[in-house]
Amino acid sequence: MVAASVLYAAVPVSVIVALGLLRKWRSRKWGKCASNTCLRGKTFLITGANSGIGLETARALVTRKARVIFACRDIAKAKAAVAEIRKKQPTGGELIPMHLDLESLDSIEKFVEVVKAGFHKIDVLINNAGVYVPLNQDLKTKDGFEIHFGVNYLGHFHLTNLLLDHLKRATPSRIVIVSSTLHERGQINFADLNLKAEIEHAKRGKSGRHNPGYCNSKLMNCYHMKALTERLSGSGIDVSACCPGFCSTGLFRNAIRWYHYILMAPVYLLFMRSAKQGAETVVYCASEYSIEGVSGRFYRDCAEYESNYSFDKEVETKLWNISEELVKARKPIPIA
Ligand SMILES: NC(=O)c1ccc[n+]([C@@H]2O[C@H](COP(=O)([O-])OP(=O)(O)OC[C@H]3O[C@@H](n4cnc5c(N)ncnc54)[C@H](OP(=O)(O)O)[C@@H]3O)[C@@H](O)[C@H]2O)c1
Ligand SMILES: *[C@@H]1O[C@H](CO)[C@@H](O)[C@H](O)[C@H]1NC(C)=O
Ligand SMILES: *[C@@H]1O[C@H](CO)[C@@H](O)[C@H](O)[C@H]1NC(C)=O
Repeated sequence: MVAASVLYAAVPVSVIVALGLLRKWRSRKWGKCASNTCLRGKTFLITGANSGIGLETARALVTRKARVIFACRDIAKAKAAVAEIRKKQPTGGELIPMHLDLESLDSIEKFVEVVKAGFHKIDVLINNAGVYVPLNQDLKTKDGFEIHFGVNYLGHFHLTNLLLDHLKRATPSRIVIVSSTLHERGQINFADLNLKAEIEHAKRGKSGRHNPGYCNSKLMNCYHMKALTERLSGSGIDVSACCPGFCSTGLFRNAIRWYHYILMAPVYLLFMRSAKQGAETVVYCASEYSIEGVSGRFYRDCAEYESNYSFDKEVETKLWNISEELVKARKPIPIA
């Protein structure tokens, strides 16, 4: 009897141990940022630093004494994140919560005014905030742009341009753009940047496995990185893009149903990183000393990643030009 109950207990325990080992084995390739130089005196600005990958990136930088501006759309959440990190890191760097809503070009401009009044330089800008929303919800930003295009790409495009002077004052400085390897499935259709056709398609219940709004915006993040690299060549500002890997964060909160948790359990175990594991590559791009002076690369697993997407120079310039026009117009004007 006793032997049998020991056996019953041993089976689940060994299954759990085996699964744990399997996950450990999977995670060995995910990469860790080994750099641990002191970042005292450096100012990092992270968009969407109150949750997920942004929060863990902030935590890692604060541990190394950096000053971190938490640029968040909900100031209460930013303050809560700051308090939580401060509690665990009483001797870390300075943490500053600030309001930034990337859904609104006005909010971006107001935010930049406040940053400029309070800080004379920015050492590293981390464009991390992002949304993933099912297309049939047809969400638009305050200025009327399709939500992924507006928040993940265009808002960051405007923010970055407005902060260039401050980044130039801190050289050698960096811009890190958090994209995704899903950019490889993106497309840029200049005739329909606001995705009218795709949204109609999704409303009729015909959406594919990958959200084209999201994938396209992550592709634009890569084009943005490339365009900035050229425009800033020789300026002392390095630009890079990265993929944190598939992570368990709040990103999919609008897309997930309860049964996904059950279906996804094995995927979670083998493929999904924690937010902290995902932040490693972002921290690497933002602080690794050995890549200082290196610009125009895409990183994943704390190493360079070769995208299979064939980037087109003309699309790159056209996207930049149109983005400038859209920011000026402040609405999704039709583009010739
Ligand atoms: N998770 C993954 O598997 C994965 C994979 C590849 C790439 N990424 C990229 O990683 C980045 C971070 O995502 P995450 O996974 O950490 O997701 P997350 O936990 O949902 O964090 C996203 C952050 O962006 C903020 N945000 C959303 N809309 C905003 C707006 N209009 N203005 C300002 N901030 C806004 C969110 O603020 P609230 O908390 O107020 O909503 C949140 O702080 C994204 O760019 C995402 O595309 C994630
Ligand atoms: C690039 O890789 C992705 C998967 O990572 C694949 O779906 C896509 O078809 C590939 N694209 C090309 C052009 O090879
Ligand atoms: C982009 O704008 C510049 C400057 O206005 C112009 O010289 C160039 O031809 C434009 N390129 C494209 C591809 O639209």
